[in-house]
Formats: sequence, C-alpha cells, structure tokens
Amino acid sequence: MNEYKVRSFNYQEDRIFNGNKFLIGNGLYGLRGTLDEFTKKDNVGLLASGVYDQHGKKIREPLNLFNPFYTTVYLNNKKIKYEDAKEFLLELDLETATLKRVSVFDDLIITSKRFVSSVHSHTLGRRYVIKALKDLNITLKSGIDLDIYELNGPHYLIKKRLKDGSVYKAVGVTNEEKTITLDLIQKPSSVDTIRDIKEPLKLLKEFNVFLSKGEEFVLDSFVSIFIGEKMPSDNQEVKELEKRGFDSLYQEHCYTFKKRFQNALIETDNLEINFNLAYAVYQLLILENKELTTSISARGISGQTYKGAVFWDTEIFMLPFYLLTNPSFAKNLIEYRLKTLKGALDKAKKYGYKGAFYAWESQEFGQDACSLYNVSDAVSGKPIRTYFADKQIHISGDIAYAIANYLKFTNDYSILFKGGLKVLLEISNFYLSYAQKENGVYHLNDVLGPDEYHERVNDNAFTNYLAKYTVEITLNYLKSFAHLLGLQYDSLALQDFIDNIYLPKPNKEGVIEQFQGYFALEDVSIEQLKTRLKHPNEYWGRVASSTKIIKQADVVTLLVLFPDLFSEGIKRANFAYYFPLTEHGSSLSSSMYGLLAIELGDLDYGLQMFFKSSQADLDPKQKLWAGKVYIGGSHPASAGGAYKCLVFGFMGLKVSNGQVIFEPKLPFGTTFMQFNFYFLGKKYNLSIINNKVDVQELKEGAL
Ligand code: BGC
Repeated sequence: MNEYKVRSFNYQEDRIFNGNKFLIGNGLYGLRGTLDEFTKKDNVGLLASGVYDQHGKKIREPLNLFNPFYTTVYLNNKKIKYEDAKEFLLELDLETATLKRVSVFDDLIITSKRFVSSVHSHTLGRRYVIKALKDLNITLKSGIDLDIYELNGPHYLIKKRLKDGSVYKAVGVTNEEKTITLDLIQKPSSVDTIRDIKEPLKLLKEFNVFLSKGEEFVLDSFVSIFIGEKMPSDNQEVKELEKRGFDSLYQEHCYTFKKRFQNALIETDNLEINFNLAYAVYQLLILENKELTTSISARGISGQTYKGAVFWDTEIFMLPFYLLTNPSFAKNLIEYRLKTLKGALDKAKKYGYKGAFYAWESQEFGQDACSLYNVSDAVSGKPIRTYFADKQIHISGDIAYAIANYLKFTNDYSILFKGGLKVLLEISNFYLSYAQKENGVYHLNDVLGPDEYHERVNDNAFTNYLAKYTVEITLNYLKSFAHLLGLQYDSLALQDFIDNIYLPKPNKEGVIEQFQGYFALEDVSIEQLKTRLKHPNEYWGRVASSTKIIKQADVVTLLVLFPDLFSEGIKRANFAYYFPLTEHGSSLSSSMYGLLAIELGDLDYGLQMFFKSSQADLDPKQKLWAGKVYIGGSHPASAGGAYKCLVFGFMGLKVSNGQVIFEPKLPFGTTFMQFNFYFLGKKYNLSIINNKVDVQELKEGAL
C-alpha cells in the first residue's frame, strides 16, 4: 500500500529545514511547516508569490505576510513548551496538501491541522484542538502575529491592528505601497471567557476554558487575504468562510487537491520510487494556480530566498511536468514570458544589444533581480562580482526551447500569435547581435553556461547549440506565420547565423569542450578542491574557476536537451569525462546526469539520481549558503527533474513526428509503471508491464 505521508517525530532536528519540508500552499500562498507557537525566530512564513517589495537599497524580494495562526497554551499560568511533549508528530499528507500536528503532554493533547485552500485561492483554515487528560483550567492565546520573519526587510511601512465585530484585521502597507489585509475569524467550541489582549505586534484573543477529563476545546480559524491598493471595505469573505464551517472548507480542499494529486501521480511496483515521486509531484502541485499572474520562482513558495525570481528552472526543469499533467497551467507559464518581453528588450538595450535578453532572475515585469554581486565572501561578507545577470545568455534560448516544447506537446499555435512568435524573433535578434563574426564564423564570446563556476568564457557549447536551435525554429515559424502577423525579419541574416555559428565538435576521444580553453584548465579532484576552501560556506566559484571542476551539468545538459544531435558513443564519452568533474553544486544537476545515465543504460545510477533529485527537500543536506547569502528553501526544479527522470528516462517518452512514443527501460526490480498524461489536447493513461507498453485514451475528467 502506498502511504503518501511525510512525518517528523522530533521537530527540533532541523527547524528551518522542516519549514520547507512540511510546506503547504496553493501557488499563490505558501505556508511554511512551522508550529503554531513559533515566531519569526523560527522562520514562520506565509509567502505571497509574485508580490514583491523593496526596502531601501536592500534586495527586492517576495513578501511574507502576517502569521494568522499564532497560538500558545498556558496551564496554571505556565506556557506549554512543545519540546516538553512526551510524543510529537508532524505529518504532511501529500494527497490532500494538509499539515497535521500532534503534541502529547502529561495533562493534555494538542492537535492542529491546517490547509491553504486549493479551491478559494485567498483562503486559509486551521483547526486547533486541546483534549484534557484530566480536569484542567486552560488559557489559550491565539491570533495574528505581525512581528514576522523577513529576509531583507522591513517591508511594512505601516502595520495596523483592527477589530471589526468578530473579525480581526491585520493591515500592512508596504514600501511599494501595496496594502495587505488579513481577515481572521476565530470560532471556539465552548468557552468560559474570551477577551482581546494586546501584546506588541500581536492581535490576540485570550480564551479561558475549564475542561473536564476527556473533554475537548476546539478553535477554528478562518483567514481571508487581500492584496491591493487599499483595504477592502467589508468582511464578507471571511464571514462567508465562517458560515461554511471548517469541515466543509477542509473537505472541499482535500477532495480537490486529491483529484489533482492522483491525476499527476506515477505509480510503480516499487514503493520507494512511488513515495519519492509523490513528494516531487506534491512540491510541483502546490505551485499551480490559475490566478498566478507571474510564474514559478526557483524556491517556489517556500520563502524569500533568490528574490522570488523566475529562472530557467521553470522552463527547462518544471515545464515538462505541467505540459503532461496540466497544459493550461503550462500555458500560463509561457504567457508570463510573453508578457515580460518588454523587460527583456530593455535589458538587451541596456547592454547595447538588439532583441530580447531575458532576466536571469525575473520578477513580475521581467526586470532582472540578479545583482552584479550575487554572492558574498563567507568570511568578510564582502560582495563578490558575479556575471550571472550580464552574461548568462542561455536564458533567452531556454525560453525559446520551452515555447517549442509547448507547441510539441499541445499543438496550441495560438501562443505564437499571442506574442510567442515575436518573442522568438526578438530572442533570435538578440543572439545575432550578441554574436561576433570572425572569418565568416559567429562566436558567442564572454558568456556563462549553466556551470556558473566558469564566468566570461567563449563559445560555451551548450549556449551555442541552443542559440542555433533557437534561430532555426524561429526562422521556420516565421516562414509559416510572420506574414499573418505582419512581422518583419531578415531571413538571410538568420539563415547565415544558423549556417555559420561555431559549434564545438567532439575531440578525438569524443569529448565536447565545454568552452574554448576548458581542456587546458587545471586537473584537480573535487576532494582536492574542497581543501582549498577557506570556509565551509565559501562560494566555490572562487576556487573552481581556474580548474576543470564544474558546478553542474553543462555539456551533459546539451546532450539531454538535444538527444538527436550526437551518437551514443559521444554521449558515453562525455558522461564519463564530465562525471568526476561535476560538483553538483546546484540541485538542478543530478536529474540531467540521471537522464543521460538512463539513456545510456546505466539504470542504477539513473535511479540514484532520481532519488537524489526527488529528495532535495526531504534531505537536509542541501547547500544553505553562498558565502554569507542564504540560499535555502524548496527546490521545485529538482522535483521537476525527478519527474523527468521517470517519464523521459525510465518510461522513455519521446515525441517524434507529432506522435508520442514510449521506449521503457525500467529500473532493476521494477516491472510496472503507470501514469496519466496529456498530449495534443487529449488525455491518456500509459501503463508499462514488463516493458510492454499500453496507451489508452481517457475521457476528460477521468483519473
Ligand atoms: C544554479 C542555476 C539555477 C539557480 C536557481 C543556481 O545555483 O546554478 O542554474 O537556475 O541556482 O535554482
């Protein structure tokens, strides 16, 4: 039996990490998996995705909202401490996206369960229950904590606490003049006395209740969130929630999420694969929301790290999951890049280029949040100049690749007419203007490939092949559709670039040089390099740049994204060559290695990489620091990569001539895999039993 639950029996193990691991959310809001009594020092977080703010010259980042579930319990005037519980359980139910907490003390049991609604996007709910194990007089303080954790705050210029009848309101006005309102209604079962109490930056009610042995006190909390220009004038929404009642809202949420979860799941006869995949699927599902006007950021909804910005992670690592399980949300992600074209045009102009140079770290309007000093020295804290923003030009090609992928899986050409073709043309124009032509050959000099440890290199193989592909598909689509849109383009110039861009060829051992001059760099092992670090958190780019050690899959990414360009022999040679040189300093790396390993028949290693990728948020051994810059949080690209390993790796999904085909290579001991997927607007079920493939069309709505 599959059991899709993640548990902790001792929260103290790793409080910050557990906040990510037990995260719940609905794409718009992410509620970290912290305990009811926790405060800002425990990184409590209710993140609003795509809502940004900047304090002074500090980093612009997404907002943490006030915490509506702050609760403490007192027995005989003594605060009950969660560490004193005889038994403790925190349980994330992946099927329903709900978090349950149980603490058993000598005299009472605390149980709470919470959800972020997958039906009503701006709604949260929690039920908090105290069961008396003997006759007790209990005091409970519960309400909104406005004193919240902020990575680069303070983000609120004004914080107001208001009471309007039964509704508690916390109102905040941000530096960027957004008004955030949190409405809360708390509904106790029965209680002896209630009073409003004021503690600094808290809006609390105090409940006093006498419980006889075996009796329960139940407190339901209903929360509505508003983000906009001003505070809403009535409390209708939260009152409506109260009227509906906790059970009804909770069940409705669970039912809806469970349907989506089952729709997206992959099942096999290996329970370990099932569980890890389910966790990855969960992490990706809690990021989906049709109301999201931006896109998914690299740390999802787990916190303020990485500026809440959208990287290539979304297009290359996560998009395939949504294409197969929820194409209409996949379309939203593509549309975000169409809407933010202006930001990309402005960026190119700023650096003196034509066309569209997308932000390396894109915020809501496509502006680049990536600073020129993106990491810092681990000892002195001094900022280190990095060239991610100005030189990581593969980002534009990644977006072109994603548009082509979207078309391949959906046939929805409307995207080209809604701005997609213009985006492709502008990206191509950018590559043409970035390129330097020497002796008839185009070079993309002074760039960064995916391996960020080597900056300002010439002719990164991944980037050059991607640029060629981009211009090639652009020209094809332009030839078919440009006249319908009145788009002007220089066909000869585009063709000349396609024909003459420098494409590094494999050497006589079959290895493709990652960039010009890479082969001449120092040979060291990862272990040797580690000994050169001055501090365990030191940014590796500092010590790795003069050596062959790379941060993440680079040439390997090229081989995975363009599987038809190179022979099996070349792929083997490159895998073998780059494997010992890759530090996997980014969680994006393992799935690329996993996918190539599976293709080459090393199924054990492929499985190992699948596990590594799917466990990024289950296993606390992730890098949390780049120098003094905190980079912790959840890793949705890694979850997307894990999904890719199963679907495109072990199940062998390929699209060829408009047809989807499966060439399975199941891992050792696994004889069965099945999942549902969308392809060209239809829904299918695929099952593989002993390498025999069966695909059945499903009626829409069927699971
Ligand atoms: C990786 C990038 C990635 C970013 C966000 C960096 O460490 O090198 O490739 O896009 O993290 O996940």
